[in-house]
Amino acid sequence: MSFRTIPGEGPLRLVVVGAGQMGRTWMRALSDSPLADVAGVVDVDEAAARAAAPPGAVAGTTLSEVARRCAAEAVLDVTAPAAHLPVTLEALGLGLPVLGEKPLAATLPEALELVRAAEQAGELFMVSQNRRFHPQLWRLKREIAALGRFGILTHEFFKAPHFGGFREVMDHPLVLDMAIHNFDAARFLLDADPVAVYCEEYNPPWSWYAGNAATTAVFEMTGGVRFVYTGSWCSPGLETSWNSSWRVSAESGTATWDGAGPPRVERTGEGELEQPGAVVGGYPGDDLLGSLAMFVRAVRTGVVPMGECHDNLRSLAMVHAAIASAESGSRVTVEEVLRAAG
Ligand SMILES: NC(=O)c1ccc[n+]([C@@H]2O[C@H](COP(=O)([O-])OP(=O)(O)OC[C@H]3O[C@@H](n4cnc5c(N)ncnc54)[C@H](O)[C@@H]3O)[C@@H](O)[C@H]2O)c1
Repeated sequence: MSFRTIPGEGPLRLVVVGAGQMGRTWMRALSDSPLADVAGVVDVDEAAARAAAPPGAVAGTTLSEVARRCAAEAVLDVTAPAAHLPVTLEALGLGLPVLGEKPLAATLPEALELVRAAEQAGELFMVSQNRRFHPQLWRLKREIAALGRFGILTHEFFKAPHFGGFREVMDHPLVLDMAIHNFDAARFLLDADPVAVYCEEYNPPWSWYAGNAATTAVFEMTGGVRFVYTGSWCSPGLETSWNSSWRVSAESGTATWDGAGPPRVERTGEGELEQPGAVVGGYPGDDLLGSLAMFVRAVRTGVVPMGECHDNLRSLAMVHAAIASAESGSRVTVEEVLRAAG
């Protein structure tokens, strides 16, 4: 996988598309970063773009015009998922690399279209999975590398947020909007890709969500490891952290992580058990700024970043395979879901 690079050392000139809640969160984070400047802001709602734009940035409703006026070098797409396809296609068509908020696209066929468009344009398209960038998650990954072969990774996410808005009326709110982070983190921890899944989605009687807000899924990952995901968005009391609660059961020990503090590890075996592929390199920084650092380094040097669209497609495929399994009541392979998506 190669893409055009923009060698240089100064801050990368970004156009932020989408001045909603997350777009404004991104712009607050960017205001402290030496790696990138917000040179332009685009939103279909012109007043929102103007209100969110930092002093000196160009604001408007048309990406091509704002990008030209502010001499943009890259696009940060923080629009609602339905707009990821048209916004990313337009950016790639302008010859600009894209850092996009998760999910890669609203549907798997649209995601495949974007992966092909990035290939054709020869531009980087990276999806920001900010929850990968947590120092204790990286520490957990380093610790489990010495535990030998992995057997089971379990995950629990139990929260009870009252968001209001789209999440309370959409289908599959937990799997589509949240689980992508956890599925992606599981791939990161295990250095493995999804093979097949059996999933049950349901809505507890007291749920305040229209769609199914609780899910249990068992994934077969490459190498035969099982990843068991359980989560609920209507689970008051003893809530987990937003980074979930994890347990890695391996050949020579076990590690747990509560999603906040340092992981706990009990090693029972002897000898060198370092796993190939376990080395993840230097930690790039926390949360959104970790994602940004990976993107900027990739654009400057050509090093393929985590979340590059071909890679992230496999995290998104886990979401859609889980939904296909829940809807059909059968075990579904990721390959068949990707094939059906075109
Ligand atoms: N990583 C995280 O933790 C996290 C958290 C929340 C949201 N998100 C993601 O961020 C994205 C935005 O979510 P949000 O909560 O900010 O939504 P939002 O609805 O608050 O904001 C979306 C903005 O995009 C604008 N928009 C829509 N279509 C557009 C288009 N074609 N061109 C330009 N602007 C357009 C809307 O006018 C709106 O201002 C989503 O993909 C969401 O999944 C990620």
